[in-house]
Amino acid sequence: MAILLPGGAGYIGSHTAIELLEAGKEVVIIDNFSNSNPKVLDCIKKITNKDFKFYEMDYRNKEDLKKVFEENQIDAVINFAGFKAVGESVEKPIEYYENNIIGALALLDVMRKYNCKKFIFSSSATVYGEPEKIPVTEDCRVGGTTNPYGNTKLFIEQILKDVYTSDSTFDICILRYFNPVGAHESGLIGEEPQGIPNNLIPYIVRVANGELKELSVFGDDYDTPDGTGIRDYIHVVDLAKGHIKALDKIEKEGKGLFIYNLGTGTGYSVLDMVKAFEKTTGKKIPYKIVGRRDGDVAVSYTDPSKAKKELDWEATKTLEDMCKDSWNYIINR
Ligand code: WQD
Repeated sequence: MAILLPGGAGYIGSHTAIELLEAGKEVVIIDNFSNSNPKVLDCIKKITNKDFKFYEMDYRNKEDLKKVFEENQIDAVINFAGFKAVGESVEKPIEYYENNIIGALALLDVMRKYNCKKFIFSSSATVYGEPEKIPVTEDCRVGGTTNPYGNTKLFIEQILKDVYTSDSTFDICILRYFNPVGAHESGLIGEEPQGIPNNLIPYIVRVANGELKELSVFGDDYDTPDGTGIRDYIHVVDLAKGHIKALDKIEKEGKGLFIYNLGTGTGYSVLDMVKAFEKTTGKKIPYKIVGRRDGDVAVSYTDPSKAKKELDWEATKTLEDMCKDSWNYIINR
């Protein structure tokens, strides 16, 4: 029985593939490299010393998907194959809706044909929009997303709820990630955004290594201790391990649609992150304060207790680990 990872060559997918292989699971990856590099596959093999099957294909292609299900005994699907750049989604809404939503539907349709009913979905804290309360719990209101990327996460969550209502033999786990950062400690894989990064940590490390001149801090007039935005940064390896726990839950206990926030429960401001990276890297990170970025919320961090109680999962890596591993990846690539 294998676990299918659409988008398994991407940032979070590749780290999860490693954890699955190290947990002794059989893995099948499909990816079209639209936002990833084929070299990652060799790195996964090198890190784990294990092999897996790979198909280069677009996950929206149902005929190709059927072939994967014909050739492998797929027990569960963990879907990482989504476009994820907020700004790009505003420029290219059709591409985002088409890739993320049509892809998820294609997977679900082919899964049911092959009676594969275990689905784990990479969702995002972005579905909470302006969070109803802090820390954010899973029962907070969702909606009020401010861009097509966030809408795709929200819409797919709704699709999954409707699918589960129509067929309760599906076991579905929606994982709402907070802010994934860091890299595998080997330094072999990490986050590789295309072009100039939009997210904070990829930007900071490229200022630290001299690729970019200075960081623009988007607003210092939020209602937070230092005025800058606060987020729940979570090490990607902790996040990857959360998927293993989610899979355990639906494989062993099953029966239901479950939703978990995956974060540490601690919020750090933009300036906290700048200071932490300066300390770890020993480099000065020049920054300037600019206006707020459209669509940003002041504060977002989770209450991680539901995942701890029901999945027996909690983040263990520190802010220092996040900084060290992000930096290690950048200087070794
Ligand atoms: C973090 C903080 C910025 C860049 C987004 C998506 C989310 C998830 C992760 C993706 C904020 C500030 C940032 C910069 C800055 N999705 N910042 N200067 O916006 O919390 O979440 O990415 O894959 O769904 O919405 O993350 O890293 O962009 O920003 O001051 O150059 O850093 O304003 O306070 P965000 P981020």
